Amino acid sequence: MKIAVLPGDGIGPEIVAEALKVLEVFRHEGVPLQTETGDIGGVAVDRQGDPLPSSTLALCQGADAILFGSIGGPQYDTLPREMRPERGLLRLRKALDLFANLRPARVFPELAEASSLRAEVVANLDIMIVRELTGDIYFGEPRGITRNVAGERVGTNTMVYSESEIRRVAHWGFQIALQRHQALCSVDKMNVLETTQLWRDVMMEVAPEYPDVKLTHMLVDNAAMQLIRNPRQFDVIVTGNLFGDILSDEASMLTGSIGMLPSASLNAAGLGLYEPIHGSAPDIAGRSVANPLAQILSVSMMFRYSLKRPDLADRIDRAVHVVLQQGVRTADIARQGEAVVSTAKMGDSVVAALQAS
Ligand code: IPM
Ligand code: MG
Repeated sequence: MKIAVLPGDGIGPEIVAEALKVLEVFRHEGVPLQTETGDIGGVAVDRQGDPLPSSTLALCQGADAILFGSIGGPQYDTLPREMRPERGLLRLRKALDLFANLRPARVFPELAEASSLRAEVVANLDIMIVRELTGDIYFGEPRGITRNVAGERVGTNTMVYSESEIRRVAHWGFQIALQRHQALCSVDKMNVLETTQLWRDVMMEVAPEYPDVKLTHMLVDNAAMQLIRNPRQFDVIVTGNLFGDILSDEASMLTGSIGMLPSASLNAAGLGLYEPIHGSAPDIAGRSVANPLAQILSVSMMFRYSLKRPDLADRIDRAVHVVLQQGVRTADIARQGEAVVSTAKMGDSVVAALQAS
């Protein structure tokens, strides 16, 4: 199993180092894992003058899975758009056709108190957001800032979806719902936007292929509200790129810490990129305080979805539960006055729990 490792910027390298410890445990047990590291994002701009160097793209194309840290930092915000770290990630998603983005939001019972909502509102919350990742206003043309006839600047982006793009992610939504509680909520803005009228039409056309899944529809503004009002009404949410970007950040906070949540971005061939949903957190980078659990849980998703070793994924998930039960806490998930551990200590605790399993 060949894994491309892209630590990236900010806290990326620190938390990826902890995830690699987990891989090392399995390698010792005889699991044939090969890793190779590549540059992406700001670090790639600094070293190679390109946020996605061709060597990194080639490395990813030849791999079975990609383990990604995080990218970005304030020092890159004034670069031309093409040179910004985010472009590296967006180009990689597009080049590998990673259209299906799975973003779970689960409340760990031990951390229910950490949510900004009352514990009883989020207890046992378990939502999966399926976000389309290679289309929509993120990639639509025309785009840019131009001048109109009056000489005034005009900004343009284009929200666009073809029915095949919608259909393939619809299937992911239904499939995932089948494996969970058979409830799929499709989120759109069909009362205003034609693109999302088509989105809703295609969802309804696919639905008869999945008679066991209950499909519902919700407008995105209402969905944003319902996620706060009564988040447990949701099982699987399927939505477009932009709405999914926003709703997945919102859903992550229901769980208490964005530092706990992994994600998977998959193409039709099963190649996947696995990354924590939090960003590079430049404010805490290099201080060994970041929570590596989202990165470690991304390794779990990697074994489940790309490397087809659900047994190893289950072991990682259980090990994370064990360390939470033991009360091991990084600063982001600690309650006031609770003792906190470093990034490395958290990683070591997971390793110890894994070795004991
Ligand atoms: C995400 C991020 C990215 C996105 C940025 C970094 C381009 O916010 O993965 O959610 O908008 O997709
Ligand atoms: Mg985002």
